[in-house]
Amino acid sequence: MQKDLIENAVGVVSIIIRNLELGINDNNGNGGPQILQIPGGCSPATRNQQLPISNMQNNIVELQDLSKFYQMGGTTVKALRDVSMTVRSGEMVAVMGPSGSGKSTMLNMLGCLDRPTRGRYLLDGNDVSGLEDNRLSEVRCSKIGFIFQSYNLIPQLTVVENIEVPLFYGGAPESTSRERAVELAELVGLGKRLSHLPVQLSGGERQRVGIARSMANNPLLLLADEPTGNLDSKTGADILSLLHDLHNHGATLIVVTHDKNVGGQCQRIFQMSDGCLTNNAKNHYIQG
Ligand SMILES: Nc1ncnc2c1ncn2[C@@H]1O[C@H](COP(=O)(O)OP(=O)(O)O)[C@@H](O)[C@H]1O
Ligand SMILES: [Mg+2]
Repeated sequence: MQKDLIENAVGVVSIIIRNLELGINDNNGNGGPQILQIPGGCSPATRNQQLPISNMQNNIVELQDLSKFYQMGGTTVKALRDVSMTVRSGEMVAVMGPSGSGKSTMLNMLGCLDRPTRGRYLLDGNDVSGLEDNRLSEVRCSKIGFIFQSYNLIPQLTVVENIEVPLFYGGAPESTSRERAVELAELVGLGKRLSHLPVQLSGGERQRVGIARSMANNPLLLLADEPTGNLDSKTGADILSLLHDLHNHGATLIVVTHDKNVGGQCQRIFQMSDGCLTNNAKNHYIQG
């Protein structure tokens, strides 16, 4: 990967993260969803792939009375109010709720993109609620993988280079990072698209790149923000099936979604309203 492209990539990743904080979507000029022409399901490589391994007893996420308030002139906007929840290692859960209910704020907290006003966030047992920016970004880089609604791929980088971005960001040497990126591309069924640019891919393929990139640093936690939101229903189902595949291999996933079908396929749904959790998802299992 060329040095200037890498530097550009790091810059763009910072912008992506900043945009996520601001709730801005950049679809890289995709012009909306495209009809899929991708291989269905995961490649056989999935079976041998090393994924974040679950110790089924662990709480990966524990929020304790977490609140986030924004000051708007003289008013306080209570975007999150005393939210307590736990997500165990190996779970796949959904966060649902109407617009303005606090889902993005919750995602920002879970993704260590912002700090709570009060309350505690234990990520894998470590309190990250009070960390300084540089420590927070280290945690984000090494422990969390992000999957975006509009993919947020870097247009000038190929499939394999896009997947390599977090590895570069995490300081992995290029010799090993290329190998890892190729493995991940194969895992998501893009082994024959390594040198394609995002513009040469369908929407579903782009999201597969996004998913491969999210796993690059073998994160503890995958956060997906409306991962099927820009896709037609068939493509969305393929992407969901890929997420299920990761989950079945031990990944811990939190999916923010408006789609009841997507939520219904998760083990638990955290329902949000007006900054609060309104169901007792803590103990309620929809399935398994
Ligand atoms: N940076 C911010 N400054 C002020 N208010 C904000 C900010 N971010 C979100 N809010 C407010 O917090 C509430 C929850 O927003 P958000 O988390 O974006 O909800 P959702 O993602 O469910 O649509 C809304 O009332 C929103 O206007
Ligand atoms: Mg939102």
